[in-house]
Amino acid sequence: MSSATAPSTGPGNNLEAAHRRGQLTILAAGVLGVLVVGWLSGWLGPSPSGFALINEPATGPEAGVPRLRPGLVLTTENRGQVLFGRSCDSCHPGGREGRGADLLSAEFRRDFKTEADIVQLVRGGTCTMPAYNRFILADDDLAQIAKFVLGRAKAAPSATSRPALPALDGPGILKIKCMNCHATLDPPLDPRDVQVLFALDEMAKCAGLTAEQKTVLRTFLRAQQGR
Ligand code: HEC
Ligand code: HEC
Repeated sequence: MSSATAPSTGPGNNLEAAHRRGQLTILAAGVLGVLVVGWLSGWLGPSPSGFALINEPATGPEAGVPRLRPGLVLTTENRGQVLFGRSCDSCHPGGREGRGADLLSAEFRRDFKTEADIVQLVRGGTCTMPAYNRFILADDDLAQIAKFVLGRAKAAPSATSRPALPALDGPGILKIKCMNCHATLDPPLDPRDVQVLFALDEMAKCAGLTAEQKTVLRTFLRAQQGR
């Protein structure tokens, strides 16, 4: 008898409860969404390293590029660093090897002597690094980044403590810049094969060769032809 008159049972009330549960779920999802967005954009303290906003003090013998802090103010002095943090740090964390190559190593200093070398690589991209056109990165911004990257590489502790590496010759470029990929591809690279000269422009870009390295390799390959 009491169950028949109790207002809290019956199909209408169940529907209302379900409706309220639905509203609560949507509210909770909304709050969670706001928290996630806040966490990603650094409002709630440091975000994970992929977002390049962690303050990592540059200390120790192999210190890298000082990482960005949330709220770091852009000035004329740190513009290259801030732009590097936005565009490059995700793959070159602190200038070090990540998904991308090490930009502070002796090999890097051997291969990239001028800011123009860095600009050329970033504009062209490689087989594994995306190309940055002028819509993504303006000339002036890229110039600032290149200046910053080269300056850091030259100031890296290993730059003064170790003798500079000699430039790569033709066979050296083939071995280090081409064979690393081609070792697993068929047929193996033969410098006497004219196909190698035909493929040079495209493959030099793929391998991230500087203009100078490309010239050295072309000269070497020409000398090999018909041997
Ligand atoms: C999506 C990941 C990614 C981003 C973002 C990225 N790079 Fe790279 N970068 C790479 C990879 C991968 C390589 C290795 C390329 C290769 O050897 O073919 C590389 C190589 C380089 C090299 C050549 C290093 C060497 O020793 O051969 C330079 C210079 C460079 N990147 C600069 C930059 C700059 C400057 C930016 C920002 C404008 C940037 N990269 C952003 C992935 C990235
Ligand atoms: C990131 C990896 C990678 C690097 C670095 C690389 N290659 Fe390649 N290369 C490839 C791939 C992939 C192909 C295509 C293979 C295929 O289609 O069978 C290729 C194809 C070629 C071909 C054959 C083209 C044709 O039309 O038959 C030649 C020659 C070649 N590469 C030369 C070079 C030279 C020289 C270098 C150094 C400057 C180099 N590659 C660097 C990956 C690479």
